[in-house]
Amino acid sequence: MSTTEYPHVDAAIIDRARVILAQELEEFRRRTPNSIAWLEGAQSVMPGGVPMAWMRSLYRHVPVVAVRGSGSTFEDLDGNTFIDFNACDLAMPAGFAAAPIVHAITAQAQLGNHFLLPTIDAVEVCRLLTERFALPQWQFTLSASGANMDALRIARVATGRSTVLLFDGKYHGHLDQTLWSRSDDGSVDADLMGLDPTSAQSSDVIAYNDVAALRSRLAKGDVAAVLVESVLTNCGLVTPTPEFVEALNTQVRAAGALLIVDETHVQFAVHGGGTAVFGYKPDMLTGGKGIGGGVPIGVIGMTDEVAAVVSNNRDEDPGLVETGDSHGLAVGGTLYANALSLAAARAGLAEIFTAEASARVDELGAQLQKGLQSHVDRVGLPWTIDRLGGRIQWRLTPEMPLNGEESYRSIVLPLIDARKVFLLNRGLWDSIATAGPSVSYAITQDDVDAYITAAGEFLDALTALD
Ligand SMILES: Cc1ncc(COP(=O)(O)O)c(C=O)c1O
Repeated sequence: MSTTEYPHVDAAIIDRARVILAQELEEFRRRTPNSIAWLEGAQSVMPGGVPMAWMRSLYRHVPVVAVRGSGSTFEDLDGNTFIDFNACDLAMPAGFAAAPIVHAITAQAQLGNHFLLPTIDAVEVCRLLTERFALPQWQFTLSASGANMDALRIARVATGRSTVLLFDGKYHGHLDQTLWSRSDDGSVDADLMGLDPTSAQSSDVIAYNDVAALRSRLAKGDVAAVLVESVLTNCGLVTPTPEFVEALNTQVRAAGALLIVDETHVQFAVHGGGTAVFGYKPDMLTGGKGIGGGVPIGVIGMTDEVAAVVSNNRDEDPGLVETGDSHGLAVGGTLYANALSLAAARAGLAEIFTAEASARVDELGAQLQKGLQSHVDRVGLPWTIDRLGGRIQWRLTPEMPLNGEESYRSIVLPLIDARKVFLLNRGLWDSIATAGPSVSYAITQDDVDAYITAAGEFLDALTALD
């Protein structure tokens, strides 16, 4: 990529970042011979030598092979240790081997992982979710992607419509219908390969925070669901304006559609997620990732009205069979809501992701923001460190972004790649490209201090005169 792709960043800084990246990649290769050899050997049994293709490319450097983790830190096959500021893209905000999760799943495994029947933890998990997200009824899946897929199906049955309205900069999982974007010429383009092309016909995308676009798109009368991240986190960090939240809260239902708020990335950055902080009033709320401390789970919260749609349209329901139509809603799976997931979620919600722990995450997030900003200012770069609770974003533009397009301007890959590999060689696991560092519930004061110090050294290297 040429520096002209990033006209808002000093070309000399980008050139310097490329030099740092090359040097640090060399050092990283030197430190990880066992991981490199293992990945090479594994190529005969797995494409790219990894059990899930993302693991090869997600970090934009060769991955390490993980061996064990404890608290905020994990160790690789070469004995390197890393303090994790990515939290597995927020799938592990509890940290590694968190005691409440270990105890809960050990006890449940001894009783049986799954029965395809309700287990008593389910009611307590619902109560804990209601306490923080204010929706009265819940269903469970195995991932946030699964939660979004089921939520969209429920919305189609509830409204008798099929279109899902999305916002630029979004990500909701690998669902065909949510992987489309609007390009400059107005067409809807696939984000990834392999999608069913017909799913584009029932998918539309407008700009985040654009109230006028929302109003005019809803006016067409075909939208089943508006699916929105409470805060955009997959293109940097974009918070909603009060007007946008108000418009979503009032106009979506008035237009005969349902509002689904995806909390997957924000659910633990701030207590109650973006829904509580920004005042969303969704018909459904979806989440997943770290709720069970790494044990797979996805959640769908819903109003009583939406819950009635689920209750009244169960597959193979005797009531539907009597009316000659036994085909109910296409939701669920044989491993969904298993006893192990629910035991882990109960422990996570009750003992790890508490309001008190969230206040600590917020405090450490504030320290990280302040420490990084002071280094940025010291070396004279015109950048701002933004924050939502424990989630940090390096912003390279003067104004706060309002939508995905504006936010992507801070995703300057040579800079991010150089920072990431520089930090790796100093024992810090930083973000994937579109995310900033995150303070998980396992991160300590020492971890935050270590990140600030190493990031300061990176900024010194970036701005050093030759
Ligand atoms: C906002 C949001 N929703 C849903 C998902 C899908 O999560 P999963 O891959 O765990 O299903 C993601 C993943 O990054 C996400 O960021």
